[in-house]
Amino acid sequence: MKSLTDMQDLVALCKRRGVVFQSSEIYGGINACWDYGPLGVEMKNNVKQLWWRSMVDRDDVEGLDAAILMHPRVWEASGHVAGFSDPLVDCKKCKQRFREDKIPDENRKSKKCPNCSGELTEPRMFNLMFKTFMGPVEEDAAVVYLRPETAQGIYVNFLNVASSSRQKIPFGIAQIGKAFRNEITPGNFIFRTREFEQMEMQFFVKPGEDEKWFEYWKEQRLKWHLANGIRKEKLRFHEHRDGELAHYAKKAYDIEYEFPFGWQECEGIHNRTDFDLGRHQEYSKKKQEYYDEPTKERYIPYIVETSAGCDRTLLVTLADAFRQEEDRVFLALHPNVSAYKVAVFPLMKKPELMSVAEKVYDEIRKKYRATFDESGSIGKRYYRQDEIGTPFCVTIDFDTVEKGVLTVRNRDTKVQEKLDASKVLEYLTDQISSWKLTV
Ligand code: GAP
Repeated sequence: MKSLTDMQDLVALCKRRGVVFQSSEIYGGINACWDYGPLGVEMKNNVKQLWWRSMVDRDDVEGLDAAILMHPRVWEASGHVAGFSDPLVDCKKCKQRFREDKIPDENRKSKKCPNCSGELTEPRMFNLMFKTFMGPVEEDAAVVYLRPETAQGIYVNFLNVASSSRQKIPFGIAQIGKAFRNEITPGNFIFRTREFEQMEMQFFVKPGEDEKWFEYWKEQRLKWHLANGIRKEKLRFHEHRDGELAHYAKKAYDIEYEFPFGWQECEGIHNRTDFDLGRHQEYSKKKQEYYDEPTKERYIPYIVETSAGCDRTLLVTLADAFRQEEDRVFLALHPNVSAYKVAVFPLMKKPELMSVAEKVYDEIRKKYRATFDESGSIGKRYYRQDEIGTPFCVTIDFDTVEKGVLTVRNRDTKVQEKLDASKVLEYLTDQISSWKLTV
């Protein structure tokens, strides 16, 4: 059994089966933008749900959904207008464009193109924020930005949430939403795109307690990825050294995943100190302090942030689940992530089989997202479900009509079990809730 070695195998599967399509494909596509198809949107929603439930189903975290467009001063305060830039170099010969910090050291020193050895231009700083105009007039005064991170929507609402929810520090605010970056070198499918979704949580703590909470969230976030069935040996922490640290961070760790194209960041955990609220206080001239009733202290809270890309987490999940055997390709997805949990097949299109199969299907659908397939051989139908990661297939045959016995087939082991039709929901519930990665 082989894991994913060539991203193209996954890209092709995603297109073929309606997981991810190139955006605006009939017009030749638009670079670094992707559309989620019928199965992809289910999987992505599942990832978001899993994140939301694990973050917000706690007493100390509240949810939020802030607007994408914010007051332009927000991005001055956050440091994005001045500093959210990448150094850009162009090859004078082949015209290819690179991020200077991402090309090999020898090319940076020799100023030679990694592609054709042509001469590279001097680096120019390129701001990654997308600009647009608010209102009918396209003038500088009307410039607004598409947010490059969801975090700032949380910071500017810190006091609103604290006072309306009556939360006491330490507490967090979680948000899922779109973010936009005019990336210079997007690529690797949905890994680095120009429009993407983030799942961010900002945890507000008393200064001095930040390091303890940083360690806590670092561990929690790794556990979450493991609970979603990602292989342990494919995940690791990477600590940001001095040169890598973002302008706001005192300490930062990435959770990295080993993709076929190398170890890459999937999520960041950052100790942002009081930088963000301090800056918003300075720029808005509105106090961002928290009053701690028991100790009668006033302070600007420190922030521990967990920031995951939703698209990137889905890519990790799909890449990690990809398996190839001699006779099939399958996605060993956690049932919590797969688009369908169960597929129901009548052995043939005969009316007596169809009516029983439809009854079983309706029963299962009360609890699980399921699909019905009556076309082609059973083998082909298994193959179709394997490829999209459906963990269980239920086949209705003449034994079901005559004796009330049906067959459940397990995606990972290919093992088929006969059981009483009246027990099928109980059996599936047990299997789905106890699912562990075994392949
Ligand atoms: N608020 C902090 C922040 O935005 P970041 O490391 O720039 O930190 C956090 O981004 C996460 O967002 C990344 O770990 C990644 O999963 C996701 N992300 C960032 N840029 C992305 C892009 N261009 N395409 C897809 N996901 C991206």
